[in-house]
Amino acid sequence: MPADLSPIDKAKFVAAKRAAKMVESGMRVGLGTGSTAAWLVRCLGEMVREEGLKITGVPTSSRTAALARDVGIEVISLDEARWLDLTIDGADEFDEKLNLIKGGGGALLMEKIVATASDQMVVIADGSKEVETLGAFPLPVEVIPFGWQTTRLLIEETLIGLDVLGRTTALRMNGEAPYVTDEGNHILDLHLNRIGNARQLSLVLNQIPGVVENGLFIDICDAVVIGHGDGRVEMRNLATGETTSESYDFVEDGNAFSDMTD
Ligand code: A5P
Repeated sequence: MPADLSPIDKAKFVAAKRAAKMVESGMRVGLGTGSTAAWLVRCLGEMVREEGLKITGVPTSSRTAALARDVGIEVISLDEARWLDLTIDGADEFDEKLNLIKGGGGALLMEKIVATASDQMVVIADGSKEVETLGAFPLPVEVIPFGWQTTRLLIEETLIGLDVLGRTTALRMNGEAPYVTDEGNHILDLHLNRIGNARQLSLVLNQIPGVVENGLFIDICDAVVIGHGDGRVEMRNLATGETTSESYDFVEDGNAFSDMTD
């Protein structure tokens, strides 16, 4: 683990490192997608290889599945697992109530199914993901390719009556072609700037024909682990209202960190 990580990568890494400690042998664990979740998967892989941790992982994307197998985690499907003990995933934004915007990495559909099938969902994030009100990050909405332009018009029409500040939408692209999710769908990114009523927006979007799922995670996340570039980690639990913190020190000893306080 290089000690010369950028501050943002250090923040993601320490959040992932701390969240990995919540994982116990025998657990079925939902493995998130994105750069922060990738740190988690690497940390868990190290624990499997070097500490004898025995877990099965349910990945939320083909990318995460490949990484998990690479680092030595046994991967099973959600249908095999049916129910999970814990899912740990990143987020694009989280607010005070731990409502989230997810899907910046295009995996929101599998992420939401897996998180909802878990006893606990923990978000790992750097401090920049915390917001007072959701919506500065464009809200990803997964739509089926058939008639997606009509679905887009219906979404734009629906947004007129809702409490949002912006109403432009964009088809996510992958070079010259529309982005295709693991489930074969497209993504529309909604530039809303500020979402006044996230619960209502989520319900209304999912009623539009052609919409498969949206990136608002309402009442799904139980706790957040926030990492900082100086090694500090803060943990907030929604149910208990408890906040705890600890700190990791990055050292150039090949492991790049050591646990300083608890
Ligand atoms: C993947 O689809 C997303 O939901 C990610 O969890 C989210 O975009 C956070 O990604 P980073 O950890 O890369 O910021």
